[in-house]
Amino acid sequence: MGWLVTGASGMLGTDLRRVLDRRDISVTAVDRRDLDLLDPVAVGEAVAAHEVVVNCAAWTAVDDAETHEDEAFEINAVAPGVLARAAREHERLIVQISTDYVFDGTARAPYHEDSPMDPRSAYGRTKAAGEQAVRTAAPEHHLVVRTAWLYGAHGSCFPRTIARLAREHGGVRVVDDQVGQPTWTVDVAELVFRLVEAGAPAGTWPATSAGQTSWFGFARRVVESAGLPPEVVSATASSESVVPDRAQRPAYSVLGHEKLHANGIEAIGPWEERWQAAASAVLVLEQPE
Ligand SMILES: NC(=O)c1ccc[n+]([C@@H]2O[C@H](COP(=O)([O-])OP(=O)(O)OC[C@H]3O[C@@H](n4cnc5c(N)ncnc54)[C@H](OP(=O)(O)O)[C@@H]3O)[C@@H](O)[C@H]2O)c1
Repeated sequence: MGWLVTGASGMLGTDLRRVLDRRDISVTAVDRRDLDLLDPVAVGEAVAAHEVVVNCAAWTAVDDAETHEDEAFEINAVAPGVLARAAREHERLIVQISTDYVFDGTARAPYHEDSPMDPRSAYGRTKAAGEQAVRTAAPEHHLVVRTAWLYGAHGSCFPRTIARLAREHGGVRVVDDQVGQPTWTVDVAELVFRLVEAGAPAGTWPATSAGQTSWFGFARRVVESAGLPPEVVSATASSESVVPDRAQRPAYSVLGHEKLHANGIEAIGPWEERWQAAASAVLVLEQPE
C-alpha cells in the first residue's frame, strides 16, 4: 500500500510526489477532479487503500479568503476532518499540512507546537480549524505539519514574482517589517517523508527552514540569484503599501525546531543555504530568453 497525496497538482503536492517517486514509494496523486474531499464514502475508500495520506489540498488565496471564508472553510477545515475520520476508522496515518497563519504574529521568540493559536485572518482561522478537526477526529493517527513562506518550482511564489518584477521594472520595493523563514517545498516534502519513516509520534511538527529574515532580506538574495544587484530591492513598510493587503499578515512568523531535534529528526537547514540549493530550479522559468 502506498501514499495518497491530495492537492497533488499544487506547489507542495507536486514536489511531494517527486520526492516519493525518487524513493520508489507508490503514490496515488489526486486533485479535485479525482476525489471529492467532502464525500465521506469516496474518501473512506481512498484512505483505506493507502498507508499514509498527505493532505496538501487547501484554499491558499489568503486575501480572497477574507471574502470567501465559508468556501475556504470547506476545504481547509471540513475536508481535513473527513480525511481524519477515515484515517482513524481504517487505522491509517493522516498528515495535515498547516501554516504559521494559525498564530497572531505578535511574538518575538519562535512559536512552538504548543503555542496558543490565535489566527488574525480568515485563511488562518480556517487552517486552525482544520488542525483541530484532524486532532479531534484522529488523535492517535495524525501529524499536523506546519510550514510557512513556501516557495517552489511548481506554483506562483514570492521569489519568482520578485525576480520578474525586478527585471521588468528595474527595481522593486519589499516590506522589511514581516519576519519569517523562507522554505522550499522540496525540503518540506523530504521532512514529511522523514517524519513518517521515523514513526514520529502523533502531534504537531514544524517544517520551516532554520534562521529568519524579512521579505526584504529574502528578496535581496533572490535578485542576486537572478543575476541582478541586490540594490534593485529597496525596503518599505507594510503601512506604506499602495494597495494594502485585505488579510492581516503575521509580522513575526518564526517556528522553533526543538521538537525535531529532541526526537532525532533532521530539521531543514538554514534558509540562505536552502535558497542557494533551490534557486536555479525555482527561478528556471524566470530566466531571460
Ligand atoms: N504557499 C505557502 O506559502 C504556504 C505557507 C504555509 C502553509 N501552506 C500550506 O501548504 C499546503 C500546500 O500549499 P501550496 O502552496 O502547495 O498550495 P497550492 O499550490 O495552492 O495547492 C493547493 C492545492 O489544493 C487544491 N485544492 C484547492 N481547493 C480544492 C478542493 N476544493 N478540492 C480539492 N483540491 C483542492 C488545488 O487544486 P486547484 O489547483 O484545482 O485549485 C491545489 O492543487 C496548504 O495546506 C497550505 O495551506 C502554504
